Amino acid sequence: MNKQLSLVKIAQLSIAEVLCDNESAIDATAGNGYDTLFLANHVSGDGHVFAFDVQQEALDSTHSLLGKHNRLQKVSLFKCGHELIQEMVPGNKKTKITTVMYNLGYFPGSDKSIITQPDSTLLSLQSAINLLAKGGRITVVAYTGHPGGYEETEIITNWCRELPKKHFSVNTITTDKHPRNRIDSTPKLIIIDKLEML
Ligand SMILES: C[S@@+](CC[C@H](N)C(=O)[O-])C[C@H]1O[C@@H](n2cnc3c(N)ncnc32)[C@H](O)[C@@H]1O
Repeated sequence: MNKQLSLVKIAQLSIAEVLCDNESAIDATAGNGYDTLFLANHVSGDGHVFAFDVQQEALDSTHSLLGKHNRLQKVSLFKCGHELIQEMVPGNKKTKITTVMYNLGYFPGSDKSIITQPDSTLLSLQSAINLLAKGGRITVVAYTGHPGGYEETEIITNWCRELPKKHFSVNTITTDKHPRNRIDSTPKLIIIDKLEML
């Protein structure tokens, strides 16, 4: 039996490690809502989840999943691009954002032409590292198999290399769960930890 953890699961476990009482989280790509639900199950006290997606279908799916698990009151859903997180997350929560999750690419089972784009993903990541509290963590699951995915992953990886080492630590994990004998189709999990305020 293959018991290897998926990168999505590893991302969730690494987020659970840093998310404490009264701290809030952002799901930058809500999709079907699995990460949003995971975050809603892990915030406590005054903690809240802010979830973003550009597609109504994704938000409907996330809303329905949260409803089934009685977690709607823990989450604010935004139908807009994650490049607007700084504008959309209310001021009183900003200092308590300690986790941001990205799961890039397209909405599974839907229009594969609507995918995350390098320019807006980078704008969003830049906002996320500014919003993040000291000790906070960003996870990015990036896929390289779909058109544009490899380029987006490369651009993010290069951007991470430029982050000041005094303020951020970056780790990358890949698995060969779906080996295709092609180095450029391996998904990646990038974990960015904020060590110091900028
Ligand atoms: C791989 S799916 C996310 C999966 C999701 N985390 C889950 O648990 O089901 C990627 C999502 O990113 C969304 N997306 C694309 N561009 C976006 C943007 N600029 N801002 C926010 N979401 C975006 C897509 O609509 C899609 O639903």
